[in-house]
Amino acid sequence: MSRIVVTGGAGRLGRSVVRGLAEHGHEVVSIDRGRVPGLEVEQVEQVEHDLADAPATAALLQSIRPQRIVHLAAIAVPFSAPDATMMAVNTGLAFSVLEAALACGAESMLVASSPTVIGYGAPGGWSPTSLPIDERHPTAPWNGYALSKLALEQLVAMAARAHGDRLRIGAFRPCYVIAPEEWAGAPTQQGHTVLERLASPALSAVALFNYLDARDAADFVHEWGERASQVPNGEVLFVGAEDSLVREPVPEALARLVPGAAARALRLGPTDPVFSSARARELLGWRPRRSWRSELGEAGHPVAAAAPAAPAPGRAPEPALASTADRETHRP
Ligand SMILES: NC(=O)c1ccc[n+]([C@@H]2O[C@H](COP(=O)([O-])OP(=O)(O)OC[C@H]3O[C@@H](n4cnc5c(N)ncnc54)[C@H](O)[C@@H]3O)[C@@H](O)[C@H]2O)c1
Repeated sequence: MSRIVVTGGAGRLGRSVVRGLAEHGHEVVSIDRGRVPGLEVEQVEQVEHDLADAPATAALLQSIRPQRIVHLAAIAVPFSAPDATMMAVNTGLAFSVLEAALACGAESMLVASSPTVIGYGAPGGWSPTSLPIDERHPTAPWNGYALSKLALEQLVAMAARAHGDRLRIGAFRPCYVIAPEEWAGAPTQQGHTVLERLASPALSAVALFNYLDARDAADFVHEWGERASQVPNGEVLFVGAEDSLVREPVPEALARLVPGAAARALRLGPTDPVFSSARARELLGWRPRRSWRSELGEAGHPVAAAAPAAPAPGRAPEPALASTADRETHRP
């Protein structure tokens, strides 16, 4: 059992991570600007605090004295703030927490990055250099959110080099997070339900159909904390479901909606994920336990779901995502 601080613990991913870590027997302190109902469970404390205040954050962590820190707090939605703000806020929060972690003697720190660092959806076109995409794939951020996440990965690498003698640190790239209530019909981060995303594959195509159950993310965070010493310090890991959030065969869906990936898509099986979490499995033994197929059951079946209307005769089929407007309304 460890004492763990989760920053952003009131958020979409944070709520499940806080609950999951508590279920694994840890003592958890959520630090967030807000508190949420449903986390008033034994072993969980919620502290309202602005992490942008670095000296106050250092003092707070000094008083909590956590062994582990999970840093999730950020502006988490691409295009929800100007690029410069996104960059300044997300890197500023990470520095504030890193410095506080070092000062309070925490043993480990895990930082949330994002698959968007890969650069899919770029206005000038994008093609993967290999499929499935793993941690060796080149990064090519094209917006302030993705750039801030790549900067966080570099911050993690820097801290591993500079402070590796006393801090285990790493980053993970969680795929599009789906929280338990969202399987039950609540809107996901971009405002659509999971069934709507399945019914309109273009909604998920922009992010290459990636997704992750929030409870599986919590299990990953737990495993990483338990085995941080087995992970090369400063390492970045993809963390995603073992299939893709699309009903049709993945190579066909990519060929239709992400033309730049069409040629390499033939290497994928019909339900494969486009992003590989094999490295997380290899290092930590972590595997996601849930998928849209396991969580939606019959509701996920095309007949039971609100299936998309067939295009009227003469109408063009669903287009590939081509316009910037499309990309900007959907979370990469
Ligand atoms: N949700 C996803 O699909 C997804 C995918 C990839 C990466 N991520 C990353 O995972 C992390 C969590 O994402 P999320 O979806 O839960 O986001 P979220 O917006 O739901 O949660 C972020 C939380 O951080 C808190 N926060 C922001 N600024 C703060 C500050 N100055 N002080 C204290 N708290 C502050 C917010 O109040 C919020 O509760 C983020 O770093 C995000 O970039 C999320």
